Amino acid sequence: MGPLPRLYDDLAPWWPLLSSPDDYAAEAAFYWQCITEASRIPVRTMLELGSGGGNNASHLKANCELTLVDLSPAMLRVSRSLNPECEHVHGDMREVRLGRRFDAVFVQDAVAYMLSEEDLARAMETAWVHLKPGGVALFCPDDVTETFQPSTSHGGHDRMLRSMRYLEWVYDPDPGDTLVTTDFAYILRDKDGVRIEYDRHVTGLFPRATWLRLLQAQGFSATIREHVEPTAPANGYEVLVAVRPE
Ligand SMILES: C[S@@+](CC[C@H](N)C(=O)[O-])C[C@H]1O[C@@H](n2cnc3c(N)ncnc32)[C@H](O)[C@@H]1O
Repeated sequence: MGPLPRLYDDLAPWWPLLSSPDDYAAEAAFYWQCITEASRIPVRTMLELGSGGGNNASHLKANCELTLVDLSPAMLRVSRSLNPECEHVHGDMREVRLGRRFDAVFVQDAVAYMLSEEDLARAMETAWVHLKPGGVALFCPDDVTETFQPSTSHGGHDRMLRSMRYLEWVYDPDPGDTLVTTDFAYILRDKDGVRIEYDRHVTGLFPRATWLRLLQAQGFSATIREHVEPTAPANGYEVLVAVRPE
């Protein structure tokens, strides 16, 4: 992986205006349900890998004690101010080793930054070594190859003296490899005026069979669970529920 995208680096303070914690309540509830329904042990502690600005954590922390790991010091700062009661650790999900085990491991959209099968397998190994037997590792990629669609969307939020609007353009320049590109244009408004910034995120995309094969090779018992949005079927997504056998 090259340098972090600007959204996780110099533009990280703008993250909550791109992606507001309030918008995560329903999906965090779904993730918690996936974990607790599959877990064979009570879920009191959870490790999140690639926790970013801590938006999911801001909801999940009501259910259990959370330890949050991210590669970006700037995103950890954003999350610390939202989730001061959680433990934050700077680390790479491919190699971090905390020397303890958790009842659950959660990896949401940050797993997209695993660009190769090798990196994806390393993130799975990190989940495995931090998970108690009987516990669940939940992986939530934005897409698998079978569900990926090029798209354009926009959004943004207003907060106190700052506002942001963005255009997000996701496409696959080479369907023959495991990479997709997301180009962002950000319009940022604060007391100093308005500016426009550009950012590119290159992320990994893998077929269902690859996910299942790598999880099984690590020792997990893995299944795919689908989330259906009744009012917007196109916004449905799939998650990988991986149980570490007892
Ligand atoms: C979209 S944000 C995650 C947001 C998070 N799901 C939430 O609920 O707020 C993606 C994060 O992945 C992190 N990331 C990318 N590669 C990583 C890696 N190898 N190890 C750990 N974190 C990584 C980035 O620093 C960024 O903070």
